[in-house]
Amino acid sequence: MAIYTNEEIISFLEAFLSYGLVVSPWLAGVREETRFDVSIYRILDTAAIDISSKLWTDEVKVEVYGALPIPDRLARTAVYEVGASTSVSMAHDLTGTNDVTEKIAHLALTQINEYIEKFGFGSLVIVYGFITSYENHHAIAYYGRIPERDFVRGTLHRPWVDYSLSDELLFSIYLGNYKVIVIDQVRYVELTAHGYETLKNYEHVLKQSGYLDKKVKQLQISNFNVLDKYDEYSQKIWPNSTLLRSSFLNWAHISPGMRVLELGCADGIFAFEGGLAERIGKKGLLVGIDPSAAMIARAERKLSSHLMDWVHFYKARAEDLPFLDELFDAVIGIGVWHFLQFPKALQEVYRALKPGGVFASFHPTNSSFTHIPFFREWFEPLLRQANMRNQEKPLDYLPVYEQAQQEMEQNGFVNISSDRREIINHFVSSDMVIDHLILGVGWFQEELSLLPWKAREEMINELRHRGTIVCEQYPDSERILHAQIQFIKGNRPL
Ligand SMILES: C[S@@+](CC[C@H](N)C(=O)[O-])C[C@H]1O[C@@H](n2cnc3c(N)ncnc32)[C@H](O)[C@@H]1O
Repeated sequence: MAIYTNEEIISFLEAFLSYGLVVSPWLAGVREETRFDVSIYRILDTAAIDISSKLWTDEVKVEVYGALPIPDRLARTAVYEVGASTSVSMAHDLTGTNDVTEKIAHLALTQINEYIEKFGFGSLVIVYGFITSYENHHAIAYYGRIPERDFVRGTLHRPWVDYSLSDELLFSIYLGNYKVIVIDQVRYVELTAHGYETLKNYEHVLKQSGYLDKKVKQLQISNFNVLDKYDEYSQKIWPNSTLLRSSFLNWAHISPGMRVLELGCADGIFAFEGGLAERIGKKGLLVGIDPSAAMIARAERKLSSHLMDWVHFYKARAEDLPFLDELFDAVIGIGVWHFLQFPKALQEVYRALKPGGVFASFHPTNSSFTHIPFFREWFEPLLRQANMRNQEKPLDYLPVYEQAQQEMEQNGFVNISSDRREIINHFVSSDMVIDHLILGVGWFQEELSLLPWKAREEMINELRHRGTIVCEQYPDSERILHAQIQFIKGNRPL
């Protein structure tokens, strides 16, 4: 039945991502209540009508669907959904908020048009169809079965659609992926055995293309954007973090007059509260970068009250540093290692360092807390979810100690050394922990991001509720975890 091979779809998806395009607003962390202004809706819908009426020709239909039935609204909703989702994603990226302006909506449409020009309209429709179909299959598999009424309204997995998904249901039944069963006079949608196979293939393709990773990271960053009490919560949840930061400064030999780049600077917590800017002093240079626009705005607000003209902040990511070669004596990062894409980030760090310059990172390494009673009780639903995916260690996105060393070596660094430390995680109160550790810093990020929309919202609420009970049952002094921290450094050769 497949008209395109997996390889072809992977290459469309890769291109789609490289143009900054996304499908499904929840990729950008939109809350259920977020809707567009009428003016934005008009811009996107008019473009959707315009593009689809011109480009959804018989020839393209045959190219994409051959002789298969085609939902009438497909091409128009493909453009609208990609436009809407990309607008939200861009708003996050550019401003750190969900507020889509007319300018942003036009920017998203420009990206869509450029993509279509290069790869054809058919490929946009394919990508849209593939991702939304994955979301449908994935949600049915997660719940086991979904009442038909909820499925066609997208209640559980695509609540932002304002059209019926009944054509998607019929299409998938036609392809042999779904069946409708009746239990106690209620109609439910289930996956067939073939549907489960199709889902496996969807997951494989989406993983290979980098789509699933991007979804996890983007959702995580958009949650981090709204964490406006990062400093306050950091100090409460990690009571020894200030000490660790100053010990790291000494360990990495950061000294006055150096030119330093800080990766993942967030709201400037290390620069200001951690003493980094002061240590470097006015004869040096400190540049902090972070992809979170909201965090950079907070760092700049702090800077305006500090009068330190040797400090600068930019919105950028480590994988694509907007700096000349060989500019810095040191590149450092705290708690950022596990957000980076390797080897790209290390190649960029290497390039930006002067010969002989040092790269130093302080980050948590892979630990398991599942044997600790209060933690187990609190996070049991997420741990169960992780087990269902055969993930023995739900924090396994964190690097393993030796792996980080190898990574540095493979990218040409020399004189590599590491040191072990411990960070105290104090589970102070339920809401603070959920906002800071789970939504903010990204513990369990993969488990959460891969849940269907509604299940994710419900999971977060359940964790808040369980946390309140756990905080009542266990005394403050017992709600503490010691997590392993790695200090690592290495030089660019002279
Ligand atoms: C756990 S926070 C650590 C913040 C801060 N360095 C501290 O000491 O508390 C991780 C930071 O890395 C940033 N980040 C995520 N992906 C990044 C990337 N690709 N390049 C640089 N920073 C990134 C996040 O936006 C966030 O501010």
